[in-house]
Amino acid sequence: MLDGRRVLLVVSGGISAYKSAILVRRLRQSGARVDVVMTASAEKMVGATTFQALSGRPVLTELWTDPLAHVELGREADLAIVAPATANILAKMAHGIADDMATSTLLAAACPVLVCPAMNLRMWSNPATEANVQTLAARGVHIVGPEDGELAEGEEGPGRMSEPEIIFLTAARLLRRESALAGRKVVVTAGPTLAPVDPVRFLGNRSSGRMGLALASAAWLRGADVILIAGPTSVSPPHGPRLVRVETSGEMGEVLNRELSDAAVLIMAAAVSDFLVPSPSEKKIKRGDRDTLEIRFEVGPDLLMATRELREAAGVLTLGFALETENPVGNARRKLEDKGLDMVAVNEAGRADRGAEAETNQVTLIDAQGLIEELPLMSKVEVAERLLDHVEDRVS
Ligand SMILES: Cc1cc2nc3c(=O)[nH]c(=O)nc-3n(C[C@H](O)[C@H](O)[C@H](O)COP(=O)(O)O)c2cc1C
Repeated sequence: MLDGRRVLLVVSGGISAYKSAILVRRLRQSGARVDVVMTASAEKMVGATTFQALSGRPVLTELWTDPLAHVELGREADLAIVAPATANILAKMAHGIADDMATSTLLAAACPVLVCPAMNLRMWSNPATEANVQTLAARGVHIVGPEDGELAEGEEGPGRMSEPEIIFLTAARLLRRESALAGRKVVVTAGPTLAPVDPVRFLGNRSSGRMGLALASAAWLRGADVILIAGPTSVSPPHGPRLVRVETSGEMGEVLNRELSDAAVLIMAAAVSDFLVPSPSEKKIKRGDRDTLEIRFEVGPDLLMATRELREAAGVLTLGFALETENPVGNARRKLEDKGLDMVAVNEAGRADRGAEAETNQVTLIDAQGLIEELPLMSKVEVAERLLDHVEDRVS
């Protein structure tokens, strides 16, 4: 994801400096080159050797060992991350102080800067820190965290550094290459919808939501403003997209009606229940001494049809999904025409390695002209990236 990108990581003297070691690993795994600079206090928390081993690059701590390093590092980096960012380094950054290798490098940096504050809750709520953070935000410095929770000294409150994965994802979004989706609103539906039968029972389906969640995350990482409308999923929603939880197809339809008028793209990856019980029992249906139970299902709303007019009026590029058991491409083309879609990703139902429940998927993408691409079997995260490449082409 971050092949060829250069990250400058400044580690200052907070107790959470150990978490930054995990961040270095994550950035490296994604292909980024990471140069680490540590303050003298940071070196008391974690040894420079740890960062050197994980980054595979020399760690810089001294201003006076290399006369040009503090200017070059910040000029060549695509992003500078300060993690953890102590109250002290935030104050120095806000006031342009450059009295060591870390702060001199940051003052000379030409790239975007992401700070990850971490400190005691009273240090964080001190008006001096608040003013420094406001100054930095007003200058365009990006800030992630701090989170609420248990702090190192045993107190509870705001001050915990965000988890490395959250910092990684925030950094990855800032490091994105130019994307036509940046700044555009993308609405993604994911997971199943449920049709309640009584207060404890429902008709559901096997959708895990993984495909939709992966698409929402990938669109967010490309800079889109993503609304994720998700039915009940056991897979955790990704960091970034604004999550709207729904249970029934009716609720999903209401949120779609609210969100679509200013959207650029709609990705319908949810497995919307086709059938519903018109008036679910208010009380739990008892087993009693019956031998059978008949429940009458009705055909529920078709959300693609129901939103067609709105989508066409607002010019929303729509990617639908079709889970087919037979004649997948033929059926998907009919769906595309009937429902006014721009593209349909077809996957085959009833196979362990693809479709609703699997972690991998094999999809064939078609449009009104016919086949666009038959993608190989791969992880849903990779499928999401490939599908978004096509969405991006059309949006631009
Ligand atoms: C054990 C210990 C933990 C500390 N943790 C933090 C912290 O999480 N956040 C913070 O702002 N300062 C923390 N401090 C205070 C900073 O280390 C101190 O302000 C130092 O001057 C920061 O220097 P630097 O910003 O150059 O790294 C801690 C100090 C000690 C002794």
